[in-house]
Amino acid sequence: MLQWLRRGDPGLSDRRAPTATGRPATRRHREGTGTTMSQHQQQGRVAVITGASSGIGAATARSLHAAGYRVALLARRTDRIEALADELGRGAIAVPADVTDREALLAAADRVRREFGGTDVLVNNAGVMLLGPFSAEQRDDYRRMIEVNLLGAITATEVFLDQLKDGGGDLVNISSVAGRVANVGSGVYAATKFGLNGWSESLRKELLPDVRVTVIEPGVVATELPTHITHAATRQGAQQLYGVAEVTAQDVAEVITFVLQRPRHLAIHEVLLRPAAQAA
Ligand SMILES: NC(=O)c1ccc[n+]([C@@H]2O[C@H](COP(=O)([O-])OP(=O)(O)OC[C@H]3O[C@@H](n4cnc5c(N)ncnc54)[C@H](OP(=O)(O)O)[C@@H]3O)[C@@H](O)[C@H]2O)c1
Repeated sequence: MLQWLRRGDPGLSDRRAPTATGRPATRRHREGTGTTMSQHQQQGRVAVITGASSGIGAATARSLHAAGYRVALLARRTDRIEALADELGRGAIAVPADVTDREALLAAADRVRREFGGTDVLVNNAGVMLLGPFSAEQRDDYRRMIEVNLLGAITATEVFLDQLKDGGGDLVNISSVAGRVANVGSGVYAATKFGLNGWSESLRKELLPDVRVTVIEPGVVATELPTHITHAATRQGAQQLYGVAEVTAQDVAEVITFVLQRPRHLAIHEVLLRPAAQAA
């Protein structure tokens, strides 16, 4: 009873008996010695990346593919993910999907299972940052940010969860410094990222040790993120700031790749990274 609740509570733990290697006996580990590996694992771990058509998502796909992962590139802009899949070649597939559309995510999960055999890593990266003064005029932006940044990540995770749990997986949620600090004009964006952090912390406890959960919290990174801001004056200011940003999507992708390559007995749960000159 309440087994799912106990797993995250050290005081009530029902951890499985350690194996000869000192690791808990999961169904099958994807890495490590003395464990069974499925055919699809031998061909390279499989990473599903949402929002892979630009910025941090595209850079993460390139970095993981270079590290030997097979990658499924999810986004709405089909031309962009197809071009990236062509660039990467073998082991990369473009899977058009809007994270606000559960049916599309189900179809994506189905395709990844059929073509790659399963999913080892889900990177919940898709996001929009529609900043501006809090007002009724921006109400569509608020709904969109919650639907993409928060509900989109939650939906993608529940859809891919069985695959992630099957043998030991990783969930990487791309949060933000705005998941820790809320500034003027960023209230609802920050609410989605604070929400992502709270949900991730609960999942971390609930899914251990089968699925490692990591939250990445970048500061300003040079991407097209501010170009979608609908409030004109805010967009202009943000584009100036992002136009001189020194941290690149590649920098963040390298951190994500490092986190994922740690041995399974080590989990990096949270990474906060800012440009060296960013105070807030
Ligand atoms: N850049 C920064 O300074 C910064 C800092 C902290 C956190 N972040 C976070 O990093 C993540 C990636 O942002 P980025 O900076 O790389 O910006 P970006 O280049 O604008 O990338 C955003 C990605 O999200 C995808 N996306 C948006 N709505 C979607 C939807 N409904 N369904 C599926 N995909 C959707 C976009 O693809 P399509 O439009 O093709 O669907 C795009 O690939 C976001 O979660 C953002 O909040 C960024």
